[in-house]
Amino acid sequence: MAARSWLFILCLAVAAAGVLQTSAQPDLKGFISIDCGLEGKTGYLDDKTNLSYVPDDGFTDAGTNHNISVEFMTPLISRRNYNLRSFPDGERNCYTLRSLTAGLKYLIRAAFVYGNYDGLKKPPVFDLYIGVNFLTMVNITGLDGAALEEAIVVVPDDFVQVCLVNTGTGTPFISGLDLRPLKSTLYPQVTETQGLSLFGRWNFGPTSNTEIIRYPDDPHDREWVPWINPFDWTVISTTTMVQNIENDIFEAPLRVMQTAITPRNASGNIEFAWDAYTQPKDPTPGYIANFYFTEVQLLPSNVLRQFYINLNGRLVYNESYTPLYLYADLIYEKKPFLRYPEYNISINATSNSMLPPIINAIEVFSVMPTINVATDSEDVGEN
Ligand SMILES: *[C@@H]1O[C@H](CO)[C@@H](O)[C@H](O)[C@H]1NC(C)=O
Ligand SMILES: *[C@@H]1O[C@H](CO)[C@@H](O)[C@H](O)[C@H]1NC(C)=O
Ligand SMILES: *[C@@H]1O[C@H](CO)[C@@H](O)[C@H](O)[C@H]1NC(C)=O
Ligand SMILES: *[C@@H]1O[C@H](CO)[C@@H](O)[C@H](O)[C@H]1NC(C)=O
Ligand SMILES: *[C@@H]1O[C@H](CO)[C@@H](O)[C@H](O)[C@H]1NC(C)=O
Ligand SMILES: *[C@@H]1O[C@H](CO)[C@@H](O)[C@H](O)[C@H]1NC(C)=O
Ligand SMILES: *[C@@H]1O[C@H](CO)[C@@H](O)[C@H](O)[C@H]1NC(C)=O
Repeated sequence: MAARSWLFILCLAVAAAGVLQTSAQPDLKGFISIDCGLEGKTGYLDDKTNLSYVPDDGFTDAGTNHNISVEFMTPLISRRNYNLRSFPDGERNCYTLRSLTAGLKYLIRAAFVYGNYDGLKKPPVFDLYIGVNFLTMVNITGLDGAALEEAIVVVPDDFVQVCLVNTGTGTPFISGLDLRPLKSTLYPQVTETQGLSLFGRWNFGPTSNTEIIRYPDDPHDREWVPWINPFDWTVISTTTMVQNIENDIFEAPLRVMQTAITPRNASGNIEFAWDAYTQPKDPTPGYIANFYFTEVQLLPSNVLRQFYINLNGRLVYNESYTPLYLYADLIYEKKPFLRYPEYNISINATSNSMLPPIINAIEVFSVMPTINVATDSEDVGEN
């Protein structure tokens, strides 16, 4: 099951609107949203999110701007991905994001859409770093291929660098870069010494397979990508308000929690799987997952829905679980799972349960050791 490809396939809808004067500063929400390779000094308002995208002019000194080939400029690709910045010179080129709050958690997301911009018909493979810390190898397959990479890290300084490193397998480039501040209570798995590298953030049960949920539905602007499997799953949903539990440390958005899936075969299990994404610099990734649940059906008091979550035949959580009616809750681990080449998840009803299992959403991350996440001290002046 190539779960990872779901992230790549789905790009945001076209957006275009007004023009804004820009500066290399976070906006009032602390967001930085960069359209890499955009010519000039003026940005624009994205009409889907109402977020303002700015050119990358003030964030990096190196590289050259390009447009993707016209045949790839389709409505399925957002305007931001029509252009990019590539870095033919130098082994390591960085963007510097400034005016941050030292010690805060940040979500950092980078988008890569190749679109045969160089006419070489050969997407490059290169490495992406947050400061000195390796995040991932960017490996785009196919001329119309795209990659979206995300890290959640504690940034110890008032700036952070995002760096593209040439590994001798093509010219690094980047299409878009976002930074979103997160409250320190969110994502307790993220510490000064450990970040998270997003593998997938899936919303089970949306009605359309292009319906990505992000800002403003998610105030933190995480991107929740649909995972749809009508052959095995049926959708259950509610239009009623779903609340977050008190002291929620993940704050899943309402719209994600209003939909869930249940097995089409009511006596069957919910089953899905992913393969470890192995790469030379991270050959045995350690995964963690956050499993999100909300009961979306009002059940009579004598009707029980209760289930177990199994990973490769072992319990993820040592007890059975019953979702709360219209409250967003989750099961998560602080430590990575045992490392396997593949991860089979099976959610099965307990013998006391009168209803099949459900699940609303899942996030899967690999852990990323971090030291001094901001930068190489030698790099600060250079960008
Ligand atoms: C964007 O802002 C405009 C003007 O404030 C508002 O009318 C519109 O509904 C907003 N769109 C979204 C998607 O929030
Ligand atoms: C990319 O396309 C835009 C809009 O057509 C144009 O203004 C810009 O000059 C192009 N950029 C490059 C690097 O060719
Ligand atoms: C990039 O991905 C392709 C397809 O999955 C794979 O064949 C290739 O080996 C990967 N490149 C590197 C450098 O790992
Ligand atoms: C439904 O699931 C049960 C339990 O796994 C299995 O025994 C049964 O054959 C399944 N029915 C269908 C129609 O697939
Ligand atoms: C995962 O499931 C597949 C298909 O059912 C099976 O072939 C494989 O052995 C399972 N892997 C593990 C580690 O349990
Ligand atoms: C599950 O683990 C917790 C914490 O280790 C423990 O307190 C609890 O008794 C365990 N429950 C069962 C059913 O074993
Ligand atoms: C469900 O999972 C539990 C825990 O792994 C296991 O003990 C039980 O046999 C499973 N039940 C079914 C019906 O698969």
